Amino acid sequence: MSGGRTLDGEVVVSGAKNAALPMLAASILSAEPLRLGNLPDLRDVHTMLSLLRILGAVVDGAAPGSASVRLAEPKSFSAPYDLVRTMRASILVLGPLLGRFGRADVSLPGGCAIGARPIDMHVNALRSMGAEVEMRGGYISARSNGLRGARIDLPLPTVTGTENIMMAAVLADGDTVIENAAREPEVRDLADCLNAMGARISGAGESRIRISGVGQLRGAEREILPDRIEAGTYLVAGAMTGGRVALRFRGELALGEVLAALRNAGADVRRGEGFVELDMGGRRPRSVNVATAPWPGFPTDMQAQFTALNAIASGHALVRENVFEQRFMHVAELRRLGADIEPLGREVLIRGVRRLQGAPVMATDLRASASLVLAALVAEGETVIHRVYHMDRGYERIEDKFSGLGAEIRRV
Ligand code: UD1
Repeated sequence: MSGGRTLDGEVVVSGAKNAALPMLAASILSAEPLRLGNLPDLRDVHTMLSLLRILGAVVDGAAPGSASVRLAEPKSFSAPYDLVRTMRASILVLGPLLGRFGRADVSLPGGCAIGARPIDMHVNALRSMGAEVEMRGGYISARSNGLRGARIDLPLPTVTGTENIMMAAVLADGDTVIENAAREPEVRDLADCLNAMGARISGAGESRIRISGVGQLRGAEREILPDRIEAGTYLVAGAMTGGRVALRFRGELALGEVLAALRNAGADVRRGEGFVELDMGGRRPRSVNVATAPWPGFPTDMQAQFTALNAIASGHALVRENVFEQRFMHVAELRRLGADIEPLGREVLIRGVRRLQGAPVMATDLRASASLVLAALVAEGETVIHRVYHMDRGYERIEDKFSGLGAEIRRV
């Protein structure tokens, strides 16, 4: 990539990875087809489809665009290490497999290298619903003769944990109440999908979710929400280059705190039905302090991108990571490009510099890679980013979209 261009143009936002993955997993819960539209063409989506095929699902019309998934006869109840290690979200098949078939073996997850990321809350919740869960040979092995509803108090509002519990509870006997549930828009989207399949879930999007078990679920057809993290990443690109970026999308784009942070950085942002437009008018962004938190707070998946923005902004900023430990792997790479960033435990202090310089850098996880692309857009000379496969897990056609905005970017 070569930096220095002012971005100007339009981007069509893809369907949300983090809504697509749990909904694909939800297809396990019914013998009838679940048809999903606005499905993004991403490596993680293909990994989930491969996993569903291993379990016995028939997939028609895979990504891009849409897919119909039907699991009539299970062939296996096991999510193997080879798939799970490339995508942590494979854990999402645990709840639905256990809920419908009473058994699931899921390899312990790998995925993004961002801290320890345990799955104890998933396991404890399933145990309190009556499942027997053991760790054996690197696998989580869960069995039940019929789950029963339970009251589950989550110590932290885990996103995939909340989704797993909802999917386990929809076919359980009686009512399940999740306290301190994750409130992310993708959790609500999954609940809407499950309700369209015949589930009885109320309160999704709030801290207390109630699920009343039903006998079985039917097929359904759903459109996946636009990806708020992908959208936010392109808006930050517009802001960093002093440019103008217009986003187009179908459905509701929940940008929340990210829009507020962009306005604090000095961007003019307009929004309406199906579009958001950011105009920086050639200005250099101002530093913005951000501190990540569960929804409705500032998303941890946008932290690396705002670290990159602050690296070239005027002034000083503190960026604090409250959701994950060790999610500052991009900092060392941004420093190679000339950023002035001082690590302070769970925070980094960033002193904005006027210019970054191109250099070879290494992507370490999905959002860290995005921050390196953003930095390369404003770096003098050429930046070569290694291990970009991390990016393909979560950004659809990223080179095309950035090229369309006028960036000099190509895959080598
Ligand atoms: C999901 C998102 C990910 C996002 C994250 C936080 C998907 C597929 N991934 O990940 O993009 O960065 O939410 O918004 O939707 N924790 C435990 N024990 C558990 C589970 C979680 O201690 O059993 C901790 C984690 O280490 C972390 C916090 O809870 O500190 C929140 O993590 P969680 O919400 O579970 O993240 P994911 O669902 O894995």
